[in-house]
Amino acid sequence: MSRGKYFGRIFFVFTMFALLLTGCEEPMSNVLDPQGGAGKEQLALINLSVYIMVFVCVVVFAIYFYVLIRFKQKPGDNTIPEQVEGNMKLELLWIVIPIILLVILAVPTLQTTFSLAEKAPKEQRDDVVKVKVTAHQFWWEFEYPEYGFKTAQELHIPTGKKVFLELQSDDVVHSFWVPSLAGKTDLVPGRINRMKLDADKPGTYKGRCAELCGASHALMNFQVVAEKPSDFDKWVEKRKKPSSEPQTVAQKEGKKVFSQNCMSCHAIDGTNLKVKGDKAPNLTGFGERKKVAGLMENNEENLDQWLKDPQSLKPGTYMPGFSHLSKKDMSSLQEYLRSLE
Ligand code: CUA
Repeated sequence: MSRGKYFGRIFFVFTMFALLLTGCEEPMSNVLDPQGGAGKEQLALINLSVYIMVFVCVVVFAIYFYVLIRFKQKPGDNTIPEQVEGNMKLELLWIVIPIILLVILAVPTLQTTFSLAEKAPKEQRDDVVKVKVTAHQFWWEFEYPEYGFKTAQELHIPTGKKVFLELQSDDVVHSFWVPSLAGKTDLVPGRINRMKLDADKPGTYKGRCAELCGASHALMNFQVVAEKPSDFDKWVEKRKKPSSEPQTVAQKEGKKVFSQNCMSCHAIDGTNLKVKGDKAPNLTGFGERKKVAGLMENNEENLDQWLKDPQSLKPGTYMPGFSHLSKKDMSSLQEYLRSLE
């Protein structure tokens, strides 16, 4: 193969890779376009290390090409050039320069790391929201200790306020990552890790698990819903007083089906259901969630498939299938779930 063709092919492969990578970038899920203070601090660290690496590369290649050209063997000249070693000045120079570069990198990295893992203030403050995050195979639990409720798969936060997260795991190691806002922090069984994030603008940001945790690791997604503080407050009030009591006949039937089949694992607040499970996502306000199982759009078709055969959508999930329910029971159950606000 001619050299031109060879380089042409390599160029083609790299162009395809670049196109593939641009295809991966989803809106609201881009580390290089952070939408909050924490993300911006982390991007500043990425930029700093890239600048340092580029500087090192430029210097090393400049010296390399200088030596290559300057000391090229001339035709008919077979003498060996003067051999130099143990030049104290040079030796010191290439020990001291990397040390300086590492210090320039280490100081802001440590500062940012400790600042982003800061403990939440003890007192309740207007500009701060505290959330306890618990990872489960393969779903996310969000508890708001100051407001006294739990939710799942959707982390609601107010814009412009600092959100302090306490992260723990119920089973194996997971990692909490919201590319546009901040990340990643591991959730390790038996220990509490902390991180802080914030969003500048309202929007729905994609979150995911970033640590291989089982068959459905790649499907362990969640949403971060950032709202204006006034909208967030409305959401909090709604979650505190959920309207979960069924209105129509079908919804009433559905609640019965729920209490017979789902209640030992799932909880719905604001109902008179006596047993409330906490082994599975809390379903309060499920009708308003954007996704089913944190994964697929919350519509009739997806909910139906999820309830009948969850393994086909999330392999390894602890959610059993309910394809044995009668058609009527299944449709009233779905009607009830969709009515939850
Ligand atoms: Cu949880 Cu990967």
